[in-house]
Amino acid sequence: NDLKKDSRGALIVLEGLDRCGKTSQSARLLSSLEGLRYSVESWRFPDRTGVGLMISSYLSNQSQLDDHAIHLLFSANRWEKRSLMEAKLMSGTTLIVDRYSYSGVAFSSAKGLDFQWCKVKKKNEVGLLAPDLVFYLDISLEKAAERGGYGGERYEQLEFQKKVAESYKKLTDASWKEKVTYGSPSCFSEIPATVEEKEAAVMSVNEASLIEK
Ligand code: TYD
Repeated sequence: NDLKKDSRGALIVLEGLDRCGKTSQSARLLSSLEGLRYSVESWRFPDRTGVGLMISSYLSNQSQLDDHAIHLLFSANRWEKRSLMEAKLMSGTTLIVDRYSYSGVAFSSAKGLDFQWCKVKKKNEVGLLAPDLVFYLDISLEKAAERGGYGGERYEQLEFQKKVAESYKKLTDASWKEKVTYGSPSCFSEIPATVEEKEAAVMSVNEASLIEK
């Protein structure tokens, strides 16, 4: 009840290959922000409810979908959650989100879809909330593969992950403000912010210094 809730929460995104450590890092960030008395929640995309049920069935190879169709379902999955995300952020809750639009581009383009077609600024992502901070967990393919092997889901194969890494790299080079390394914050500039941009910029600075502690 004495949680710090006076300003809006921050939208913090974690991105990277499968097995890069996003789950552990979100958990650590969550508990460290909780320790600092922030109101904070841990989220993930795909959210496997709603449209996410179709995504889940596709990922576990129980259904087939055209590459563009599944790409748009991932996007719809984010749209389904947009208003709830906004409400949480505006009420002062910080969201730590495991995967967001960047996964959408990296994974779909790794399958061979046109990079520009998938790119975040394409209109299916425009209007989603802009993250204040994006962490790209940069792990080598070898390290990721060492971590107990991949599960049985559609994208969890070494050859495919290699392509995803290349797509992320391209995304980084093309769109991120600075080259990202493990743990260094970087603000993504391509999604137009629909929550006050100025406020977002201020928050991202505050949150960045918070996380570095
Ligand atoms: P996730 O649930 O994070 O994987 P895990 O089962 O390892 O926890 O994501 C499932 C897969 O969906 C993952 O391989 C990345 C992929 N994905 C996309 O292809 N597009 C997207 O927009 C998102 C959010 C995820």
